[in-house]
Amino acid sequence: MAGDLKTEHISLDFLRVCEAAAIAAARTMGQGDRKHSDHVAVEAMRLTMDTVQMCGRIVIGEGERDEAPMLYIGEEVGAGARMSPEERDMLPHVDIAVDPLEGTNLCAVGANNAIAVLAAAEQGGLLNAPDIYMDKIVVGPSSRGVVDIDAPIKDNLKNIARRLGRDIEDLTVMALDRSRHKQLIADVRAAGARIRLIGDGDLSAGISAAVAGTNIHALVGIGGAPEGVLTAAAMKCLNGEIQARLVFDHERLGVDKSKVPPADEVLGRLRDMGISNPDKIYDTDDLAPGKKIIFAATGVTDGSLLRGVRFFGAGKRTHSLVMTTEARNIRFIDTVHVEGGPDTVIRF
Ligand code: FBP
Repeated sequence: MAGDLKTEHISLDFLRVCEAAAIAAARTMGQGDRKHSDHVAVEAMRLTMDTVQMCGRIVIGEGERDEAPMLYIGEEVGAGARMSPEERDMLPHVDIAVDPLEGTNLCAVGANNAIAVLAAAEQGGLLNAPDIYMDKIVVGPSSRGVVDIDAPIKDNLKNIARRLGRDIEDLTVMALDRSRHKQLIADVRAAGARIRLIGDGDLSAGISAAVAGTNIHALVGIGGAPEGVLTAAAMKCLNGEIQARLVFDHERLGVDKSKVPPADEVLGRLRDMGISNPDKIYDTDDLAPGKKIIFAATGVTDGSLLRGVRFFGAGKRTHSLVMTTEARNIRFIDTVHVEGGPDTVIRF
């Protein structure tokens, strides 16, 4: 038994969870210590998560139980974790994918687009993806249905341009600046599109591709698989599309064989997770099959979609995106966290 998952209601709790992680991480911005930035974000997210009235289970988190002290895969979170079975029956049971600090390097050097982010859904609503690489193509609502991850990039760009009523030269594509993308980048350039190469953060890039006005029209290339699931949850809310495929072959990753786990070890892990076809092409619904999806993200540093945390004398200000598939509300939330006394002035 489980209580009804009221996504509108609980989404504002998840907003608090992301805000707490973003504020903690933002305090460490520019200190050059990505592990510390990540650690404080994880701690803050974990602590706030336990105030949410739910029986939560981490399906994508900081790693396996033996390698992460908090927010590890399978960890029970939420107020329900400390309740009796009868009390737990009254609460919604929720699967949660977290990335308390997406873009640890970005935060460490004070660069744009670091975010604190999570997605949640009814049980089974998010793919339990392994922490390996994933090839992705992400587009917004206008280009849904006209891209194919296996097609030459020039064909995909031609189709995106047609749907957006512009020339390929007027498209901006984002990709991680990695040597594995040498050919992809050359092909995008040859097709005539503009490229923004990013140091990190393909999740926020993917979300931006699905929001008109960001001047980003697609995200392409290989990034993390967990980020792919979180992107899919966002696409479900924004009507965008992701196509993806797991990647663990060292040649495709452009690294020496010694840098990646042996293929048979990865295949075994995938089988344990219920993935029998490692070459499967995942679409948005495969990655985030839930009917009741919640997505929340708070800016840590300034970005194309969200402003970073601002600290002032009497508090701090955060900027977040909160959305659900049920209510079809896309909320950009500007929160002033007041810490000063009754004379505190709130600015617009
Ligand atoms: P972290 O926040 O864990 O540092 O990940 C940042 C990121 O750039 C992701 O956005 C991306 O999916 C992944 O790392 C790419 O991995 P790699 O840096 O190994 O190419």
